[in-house]
Amino acid sequence: MAVRSVTATAPGKINLCLRVGALRDDGYHDLATVFQAVSLVEEVTATPSAGFTCAFSGPIDVSNVPLTADNLVLRAARAIAAATGYDGGVHLEVIKRVPIAGGMGGGSADAAAALLAVDALWQTHLGKDALMSIAADLGSDVPFSMVGGTAIGLGRGEDLSPVLATGHFEWVLVPHDHGLSTPTVYRELDRHREEHRLEIPPVVDCPDVEMPLLQALRGGDPVLLADYLVNDLQVAALHLQPELGATLEYGESHGALAGIVSGSGPTTAFLMPDSTAAVDLVDLFTRRGQRALRVLSPVHGARLQ
Ligand code: C5P
Repeated sequence: MAVRSVTATAPGKINLCLRVGALRDDGYHDLATVFQAVSLVEEVTATPSAGFTCAFSGPIDVSNVPLTADNLVLRAARAIAAATGYDGGVHLEVIKRVPIAGGMGGGSADAAAALLAVDALWQTHLGKDALMSIAADLGSDVPFSMVGGTAIGLGRGEDLSPVLATGHFEWVLVPHDHGLSTPTVYRELDRHREEHRLEIPPVVDCPDVEMPLLQALRGGDPVLLADYLVNDLQVAALHLQPELGATLEYGESHGALAGIVSGSGPTTAFLMPDSTAAVDLVDLFTRRGQRALRVLSPVHGARLQ
């Protein structure tokens, strides 16, 4: 019997550590990052259709999401069609919760959920390896959204190995109204490094993840983890949106153990000591006129519903 529709979910992420190496010849940077999936998930429903179309809705403003062929969910579906020879189409309905252009891998999560939903709808039965390879072609963060949990990402971020993390961490996320384009933030980092090359340590080609961060994750200790949150892209995001500095300062002086720009920003992520402090900080930001969300990490990766 033909399948009527299939729904899959996939999580957004934060980078607990994001070390950026030198610019490569292919325009990417080698990374050493620790991804952690957060309890903010995208939901994609795939329905049979003659062509390739998508629609977005959800609790956040989706009016600026381009519905053109370069949308990652449509590219994901076309990639499966190309890999399998499937000659039908699909309509993809996306419920978006992860901030758009926010540095939290929302578009990547859409792609990861679309890959699972389309593969199941068309019954193309691509194995895990084939899906992960398509995921890496779609974007550097898509493979992580497929696996979720906590993982080290090397290379462009697509070369993953799992990390042992115990317990859960409490976060407060503060999305910002104007998104940042990932390539623009990387370019700003390169510019900053060039301008300050005499004052800052030389940029390494292949950076590393610090051991104490992995120990803090193994122990499930937020106080220890707070000391090792680091993001090389933060300086670039702060140059492009200086007002993020005030948000970071506010959160850190109102109960957060540490605040960090998430990925290429501009979402800021605050690591909280417990759920009470998280609820209180959400309330304080809201009263200040800034939208804030409480999330937990880690959560599982993309799944069929
Ligand atoms: O892989 P993805 O399409 O998400 O990357 C978007 C852009 O971010 C790249 O074109 C590149 O400018 C930048 N990037 C980078 N190094 C990485 C990942 C992304 O320079 N490791």
